[in-house]
Amino acid sequence: MTIRSVIKGSGSALPARAVPNAEMAEMVDTTDEWIVERTGIRNRYIAGEGETTSTLATGAARKACEAAGVDPASVDMIVVATATPDQTFPATATIVQQALGCTGGIAFDVAAVCTGFLYALGVADSMIRTGMAKRALVIGAETFSRILDWEDRTTCVLFGDGAGAILLESADVDEADPRAPGIIATRLHADGSHNQLLYVDGGPSSTGTVGKLRMKGREVFRHAVVNLAQVLEEVLAEAGKTAADLDWVVPHQANSRILDATARKLGLPPEKVIVTVDQHANTSAASVPLAFDSAMRDGRIKPGDLVMFEAMGGGFTWGASLVRL
Ligand code: UT7
Repeated sequence: MTIRSVIKGSGSALPARAVPNAEMAEMVDTTDEWIVERTGIRNRYIAGEGETTSTLATGAARKACEAAGVDPASVDMIVVATATPDQTFPATATIVQQALGCTGGIAFDVAAVCTGFLYALGVADSMIRTGMAKRALVIGAETFSRILDWEDRTTCVLFGDGAGAILLESADVDEADPRAPGIIATRLHADGSHNQLLYVDGGPSSTGTVGKLRMKGREVFRHAVVNLAQVLEEVLAEAGKTAADLDWVVPHQANSRILDATARKLGLPPEKVIVTVDQHANTSAASVPLAFDSAMRDGRIKPGDLVMFEAMGGGFTWGASLVRL
């Protein structure tokens, strides 16, 4: 028998205010046609007063606990992936911990921008497998609207706010059983030589300001397709699977053209790819768990399914994880 981290439930939370492309066209020189054609985005949600990364994260975490039938107070590890914490410190995870009424467990944030959820999942899985925690909330939560330059049409139309969470539990499984549930394989990468292609131009130690997001979109796009296809192949090879074995791919939702190109490279039919970028836009670390939760709740992803998560973002960072539900 081997210890694996098994997904017991998922949840998500969005701000109250939806902002369709038409509203963006009133703010900057853009059109609904341009945004839809170049990105697939039709709508995003923007946090209002009183809505923060921690309130969204807490909402998603509560729903994940409900779906798993677990009392939040029994969670012994909370990992929040975010690039937009409520405060520079303490970790947003500790704010979520307090809101959920958890005491005494582990709580920390992970910073890997759009790959944050994959990094958080990898860290949480490793800690569960070494026995440091038994029941973990892994959350991706962002309020990117607060670091956007609302006069820069090349970036402000692309992002949105939200949170997604999963509840992971330690379980003894028979690894020889191909239907055994849990996280099967994860690969994470970073290449810091590209850290100025997607970044925030401020921070506590450099400028003393929060800063705004800056991106060389075309270059990020080019790297994304290559890196994602490569890491997906790595994870499949490590697990002894092929793309044909996958029931679903839940990708980072940055641009529908990246999703299409990556699926084509792997020979994956587009029907197996979960797409929510049209509704949520790019929610950075929240996008994978938000998309996963949508597909869990509408019944597309079912118990027993083989699911691949993947993401790529600032750093560059990228990664993928294969999970049997
Ligand atoms: O989440 C982390 C990972 N991030 C990503 O994966 C993002 C990757 N990049 C992308 O998704 C795409 O590169 C973008 C959506 C950001 C841009 O699409 P593109 O097809 O690469 O467009 P472009 O940057 O080459 O710009 C094409 C034209 C430019 O005009 P000119 O120079 O050809 O006259 C831009 O000025 O589109 C113009 N443009 C816009 N026009 C209307 C840029 N933004 C807008 C806009 N509305 N919002």
